[in-house]
Amino acid sequence: MRILITGASRGIGRAWVKHYVKAGHEVWAGCRNPEVWQAPVAAHLHPLKLDVSDLEMIQQAASGIQSGLDLIINNAGVAGGREQPFGRLDYHAWQEAFVVNTLGPVRIAEAFLDHLSKSQQGKFVTVSSQMASMTKPGRGAYGYRSTKAAVNKVMQLLTEDMKNFSIACLTLHPGWVRTDMGGSGADISVEQSVTGMCQVIANLDMGNTGSFRTWQGDVHPW
Ligand SMILES: NC(=O)c1ccc[n+]([C@@H]2O[C@H](COP(=O)([O-])OP(=O)(O)OC[C@H]3O[C@@H](n4cnc5c(N)ncnc54)[C@H](OP(=O)(O)O)[C@@H]3O)[C@@H](O)[C@H]2O)c1
Repeated sequence: MRILITGASRGIGRAWVKHYVKAGHEVWAGCRNPEVWQAPVAAHLHPLKLDVSDLEMIQQAASGIQSGLDLIINNAGVAGGREQPFGRLDYHAWQEAFVVNTLGPVRIAEAFLDHLSKSQQGKFVTVSSQMASMTKPGRGAYGYRSTKAAVNKVMQLLTEDMKNFSIACLTLHPGWVRTDMGGSGADISVEQSVTGMCQVIANLDMGNTGSFRTWQGDVHPW
């Protein structure tokens, strides 16, 4: 497969790149600082300068990839001033999170539609979070929860539009993962999360397009 992964500099995104490169796939590792992938890198790994909050950069990245793509993973995400307690909300961080977490995937979808359309089995995947689910009451993290809830809605809309191009869509909860964002006390390693999610992606097709699933493949309530 030919695969583009955003937010590939560290955490889950970096583990995803390593996983797919090891399996022999051709991978574009989209990140703000592609130099983190400097030598030795495999010939089928392409570090790509990509800030998903920068529309022009997204469009340039799309123009720079000549071939089609089989899989895009919108992994880049920010916490958006995570604590965000009522009474001390950080609106600036919230707005920034909206640009990255919500607008990022839909901008990628528009810019790379032609690439995915060239695939026999194009797949468009976005990493969301259980923290966004309407069925999970919680407190705080206004910015993170709401921007991920918004991207869930975006994924429902994209699912319908992408049916015209036979591109299957999937929204994922990666688990609570030990990364800079998840913290060292989280439940699972990046390798566990990525191995599970790759299996879920392998099972994605037009027959089950449009679902929200956990890293273990269970259907997650929106
Ligand atoms: N860890 C968890 O427990 C957990 C749970 C649920 C969902 N998630 C989601 O999983 C995804 C990956 O999270 P993580 O835990 O690996 O987080 P992380 O360790 O904080 O890494 C976040 C990644 O996103 C990148 N990024 C942020 N803003 C970007 C931008 N504007 N353009 C391009 N890349 C950008 C970062 O790049 P830089 O190095 O340039 O900052 C970094 O590579 C996120 O969408 C997150 O919301 C994580």
